Amino acid sequence: MIGKLNHVAIVVPDLDRAALLYRDTLGATVSAPVDLPDHGVTTIFVILSNTKIELLRPLGVESPIAKFLAANPAGGMHHLCYEVPDIVAARDRLRQDGARVLGDGEPRIGAHGKPVLFLHPKDFCGTLIELEQA
Ligand code: CO
Repeated sequence: MIGKLNHVAIVVPDLDRAALLYRDTLGATVSAPVDLPDHGVTTIFVILSNTKIELLRPLGVESPIAKFLAANPAGGMHHLCYEVPDIVAARDRLRQDGARVLGDGEPRIGAHGKPVLFLHPKDFCGTLIELEQA
């Protein structure tokens, strides 16, 4: 069901610094920052030849990653994003197998303008999983 690894997301305390680290120290191509108020995050994407790294910082007081950053002040890996061809079919199949879909279970538009869903980390080896319809 899952296809390519779309991105690995890392929460960072200082987005500008993280972007410079990836651009100048690691020599990668980085995007401009994009605010996603619906998700409570600001993102910068690091473009690699086989996948992307999503650098995230909290946006707004209700940000879902604020607690994560408080618990991991230096930052840390936050989620993996896998591509699926049909997100509603994927959700229904996962629910049938007992997996928990976060929020109200309805896909929302993610950082790439495509529908996304998140799966409970306790159901997937302790990793938060994002599904993106590709
Ligand atoms: Co993501």
